[in-house]
Amino acid sequence: MAYSETALKVAIVGFGTVGSAVARILCNGSNQSLLRLTHIFNRNVERKKTDWVPEHVRWCEDIKEIVASDVDVMVEVVGGVNPAGEWVKRALASGKSVVTANKQLIAQCGTELAEVALRAGQHLAFGASVAGGVPVLSGLQDGLAGDRLYKIHGVLNGTCNYILTKIESTGIPFAQALKEAQAAGFAEADPTDDIDGYDARAKLVILSRVGLRAEVRPEQVACHSIRPVEMMDFAYAHDLYLRSTVRQIARAELRDGKLYASVQPAILRRDSPLAQLEGGQNLVVSTGVYGGETVFSGHGAGGNPTAVAVVSDLLAVSRNRSQGLENLSGGATSAYPVSNDFLTPHYVRFTVRDRPGIIAALASAFSNHGINIEAVLQRPECAKTALPFVITLEECSTSVLESALNAAARASTHSFLGVSMFLRCSVGECGAELELHDRALACPRCGDLLEVVVEKVALDPAALKRQWRERRFSHDPRDISGVWRFRDFLPEYPADKVVTLGEGNTALVRGQRAAQYAGLRTLWFKHLGWNPTSSFKDLGMTVGMTEANWVGTKAVGCASTGNTSASLAAYAARAGLIAKVYLPAGQISMNKLAQALDYGAELIEIPGSFDDALDALLQSVNPDLYFLNSINPFRLEGQKTAMFELLEQLGWKVPDYLIVPGGNLGNSSAFGKAFEELMRFGVVDKVPKMIVVQAAGANPFARMWREGSRKLVPVDKPETVATAIRIGNPRSWKKSLRGVEFTGGFVMDVTDEEIGEAKAMIGRDGIGCEPASATTLAGLRKLRSAGKLDPDAVVVAVLTGHVLKDTDFIIKSHKKSQVKEAAEVHVK
Ligand code: F0G
Repeated sequence: MAYSETALKVAIVGFGTVGSAVARILCNGSNQSLLRLTHIFNRNVERKKTDWVPEHVRWCEDIKEIVASDVDVMVEVVGGVNPAGEWVKRALASGKSVVTANKQLIAQCGTELAEVALRAGQHLAFGASVAGGVPVLSGLQDGLAGDRLYKIHGVLNGTCNYILTKIESTGIPFAQALKEAQAAGFAEADPTDDIDGYDARAKLVILSRVGLRAEVRPEQVACHSIRPVEMMDFAYAHDLYLRSTVRQIARAELRDGKLYASVQPAILRRDSPLAQLEGGQNLVVSTGVYGGETVFSGHGAGGNPTAVAVVSDLLAVSRNRSQGLENLSGGATSAYPVSNDFLTPHYVRFTVRDRPGIIAALASAFSNHGINIEAVLQRPECAKTALPFVITLEECSTSVLESALNAAARASTHSFLGVSMFLRCSVGECGAELELHDRALACPRCGDLLEVVVEKVALDPAALKRQWRERRFSHDPRDISGVWRFRDFLPEYPADKVVTLGEGNTALVRGQRAAQYAGLRTLWFKHLGWNPTSSFKDLGMTVGMTEANWVGTKAVGCASTGNTSASLAAYAARAGLIAKVYLPAGQISMNKLAQALDYGAELIEIPGSFDDALDALLQSVNPDLYFLNSINPFRLEGQKTAMFELLEQLGWKVPDYLIVPGGNLGNSSAFGKAFEELMRFGVVDKVPKMIVVQAAGANPFARMWREGSRKLVPVDKPETVATAIRIGNPRSWKKSLRGVEFTGGFVMDVTDEEIGEAKAMIGRDGIGCEPASATTLAGLRKLRSAGKLDPDAVVVAVLTGHVLKDTDFIIKSHKKSQVKEAAEVHVK
């Protein structure tokens, strides 16, 4: 058949499975009077060329060529938000319509792109972005235009379907079902998009926009993974709910001026059409005020079904152009508050370590919240240490259920929400265990320090990394915090109970002069001094203060060399708690003292050193005072997230060394714990060697290390210009030693002179820090000059406090050395 002169000229951008399927349909003849393929774009296009594409088609690998051409419509089938979004905009701006199958792009930027299209007088069609070959978008937009739709729900992801049916029919564990799905080509190598619900969520966002005319962003929609679903859930669903089953369901509903939306595993009757779907099939049900339910179903993915949708959109563009019709991208939408607080029956499965009274605590919390229990089932054959049981509840809202679970957790000091955690003595041989929210300061059996044990995390490494990245786009206060963003490894609290000042998210800056000074090619500074109160203490304080508040304390206290007191004062103020800080009289920087005063803390000055202040506080028997020094295990939980953030900033490429100042040794303990956990849960497969640096006048840990001893002998009268680490009896030395040994690192010290010089150098790099932080650069220079460090090693130095934390030190040292009196200035 001859090409018609009036046919639309079409460029295909992206010649993969879908792109080539589109080309085949366009080249096979039947549409040639309307559509004429003129260009194919792909990176490294040579390897893509095939002989069945007609000779007149231009193959190109520079997108500029498409933009500059006389093409009428660009078909975008590259996928991903970038650079696809940029290309779509350029095509629209240069007078081309666009047909796309890209659901992530449309879900995230669809509204903006539709506006660009409108301004340019072009069409933007995306019928292929949801459910492939099923014409659900045009069905909702045109076919049901006369109705007022208020609800859309369905099964939108074939991979989840495949995995869940596999578990149900064979009884294999989730991980194995996923492997089989990957082997059978039903799941990608990185399956997180599908199984954690992001794929279905993008489709739901587009369906809501088109069908419900509701403007919603993907990150507003709650997404729950299908990963926790196991065979026993199918068994329970079968027994408890009249032979029901479990599927991933996406749903969106407009009710009372709100948009309720979520993607999550849900229980369905076995005879529901949603439960009958196989493999890659999709099914969407829309509900309208007048027309009731309409079902759309068919092949949701794959080259040919998706290509059919693309070509249908091309024909629609051609039709609309020839008739001079406007825009295909839909009419106006409205924004609604978005919530996942559906009113529905709930199924809750717990896995708990056997504790008496748990069911009683739950039952009373449920009844106090007006929730009716339908059934409780416990499988007697399971081990007592991991005891699963199921409770089914009559209809209630998700938020009421969550607050009932929180109340039960408080009553029985047990965490029910996901992560499994408890307190344990940090000394291996003792190993005494306590409930997570026990207020004990030390191990009741041996008196040593306690630590929080992270027994299990809900997601696998790829999903965790994905989740952490994803949370950066969210406005939840916990996601804005660079600490709580990593909450998968933290004790769990309800969102509104978290005491946060938006801490964390600190920069990782390349050292320039400092690197030269140390004789290193690659030196990074992780500046924890760029936190809300200008030291790393905020990272731990947000968790410590949240726990203090959670257990119902009224007053909090600490001993401090200055930074802890400033941070404690600020966070106590946020939580509305009384703050008492014990300070070594006359030994802390005025800047830090000023902060504590400004945030309204009560100051208690103790003659002597920090160690004396800490002893004084520990001896002041006051059961109402919640203790927030770094021997508090919750503080260390927050501090450990600095390493999660650091490794994420490095793209999970692990550096060779991490160097950190040591005072009371809480921070290095926290970092050691981070590395142990990241290794244990497979987030990284190696860790940096951790070097702890002390000041020579306050160096009990370095001395112990040098002497090869395993017993710390305190320094009686610690002395150093780095007042933050003027500490003679560090309490966390055993934990820190464990971290140093785990990472294969070591401990050292540097003199005050070396600290002063290194500090000035960090200042000259435009970064600045307080003296204690400069021990790191001083240590690196010392190691290099002793030939103990490879100049090619990749090193991260942790800066712990801001340059303005000790201005007195700066003014004094510069008066001494650098400020020239009456210098002559010559400018030529
Ligand atoms: N750097 C700075 C700036 C500090 O303030 C501290 C400790 C450290 C390093 C050492 O950290 O004790 O965890 O080994 N300052 C505490 C305080 C003691 O009270 O502000 P560590």
